Amino acid sequence: IIIQVSILSLICIYKIMSQEIKGFSKLSKKGKIDWLVKTCFKNDEKALHILKKYWNSDDSLQKLHDEFSENSISNYYLPFAIAPNFFINKKIYVVPMTIEESSVVAAASKAAKFWMNHGGFKAEVLKDEKIGQVHLFFHGKKKLIQEYFDFIKPTFFKNTQSITKKMNSRGGGIMDIKLIDKSSDLPGYYQIFATFKTADAMGANFINSCLEEFAKIFTNSIKLFNNDELKFDDIEILMSILSNYVPNCIVKTQVKCHVNELNSLEPNTPNFAQKIIQAIKIADIDIYRAVTHNKGIMNGIDAVALATGNDFRAIEAGAHAYASRNNKYKSLTNAFIKNDIFHFELKLPLAIGTVGGVTNLHPLVKLALGILGNPDSKELMKIIASVGLAQNFGALRSLVTSGIQKGHMKMHLINLLNKYEADENEKKLAQIYFKENTVSSASVENFIKKIR
Ligand code: MEV
Repeated sequence: IIIQVSILSLICIYKIMSQEIKGFSKLSKKGKIDWLVKTCFKNDEKALHILKKYWNSDDSLQKLHDEFSENSISNYYLPFAIAPNFFINKKIYVVPMTIEESSVVAAASKAAKFWMNHGGFKAEVLKDEKIGQVHLFFHGKKKLIQEYFDFIKPTFFKNTQSITKKMNSRGGGIMDIKLIDKSSDLPGYYQIFATFKTADAMGANFINSCLEEFAKIFTNSIKLFNNDELKFDDIEILMSILSNYVPNCIVKTQVKCHVNELNSLEPNTPNFAQKIIQAIKIADIDIYRAVTHNKGIMNGIDAVALATGNDFRAIEAGAHAYASRNNKYKSLTNAFIKNDIFHFELKLPLAIGTVGGVTNLHPLVKLALGILGNPDSKELMKIIASVGLAQNFGALRSLVTSGIQKGHMKMHLINLLNKYEADENEKKLAQIYFKENTVSSASVENFIKKIR
């Protein structure tokens, strides 16, 4: 047994070692692909073929995409779809959405159409402030750090002018800088806590550059303080980084209509409006439901964020943290009936931009912003939030009526047919057959077997 285990371990180590490579990033694109195809596909030409198939024939466009990321070897396609009829603040938008889940755009479009005929979305940006922190440890006398911070605070503003000048001219900049004592949570731990406005940029680079400068200023200006009690080694900067939790960068969007109008949308579901409200109440009390509920909202939000070149991971992280801001993870949407009017609203933090990042570089992102009429960042916040609300409406509407699978699988049918490499004629037959029959992985497989 010992010999067998040893041999197995050696094989395992050999396998791991044969996949290890040093200096991969320094190889040419061809070198990287050759290594990959040899190492992961035993030189199978099919792998090479797939990678090349997704290259763009326009060399300069391909180069642009290659340069977005280190070690890029091909392009990864996602659908670039359109959800029309978004009526937001009395303006009609055609919304670009990038998402692979087949029913999302259909659901958003359907919801947008309904609300377009019922006054549309009313959206507003409530706050637009971002946050960044320098995390540090202080080992000296407690009262000294606050005194030193107060002394040096004007220098934070003054010595970052080369970074902030352009942002100031666009109406943004550093709003405030505070010292926060966190030493009761973690011995010696303090934060330089700064708030920013970043105009039409998401602002990550701007904020991080300011913070790193604050950190340098804080460590290098001790001599100026001229107090022997404060020693250079007393201050230990750990890290400087923006926060993706932006509870002061908030957008709210809402729709409303007479409860009877909403109920008449689903005549076969008694008390449809009440059922939507109950579904949200459940998401408020049950985390299992809440996460799925909010995921549905993020289907729409991420899709527009991605299409417009925004960092959807930052948005996701911030949104879920906001959903648990009162120490309980809850629904991001809310609904109620007042004086026979059904109100449905979404409030969430959105740190996005319409300039900077890939927004000015990626041709499809530029096009997406063009489709939206080149909004500024606040207008884009309102659009993105409204798509999130529409998405939640679409999901809840399906869930409390026919169930999600009917619409979902209808849209997914084409993917299942593609899995069996169905030709156009087979697809046509399937569309007819599945009008009357339930779509599932098994039923599509059976159908294909039968007709073949
Ligand atoms: C699926 O991507 C999203 C839903 O699960 C959202 C929800 O349950 O509310 C349908």
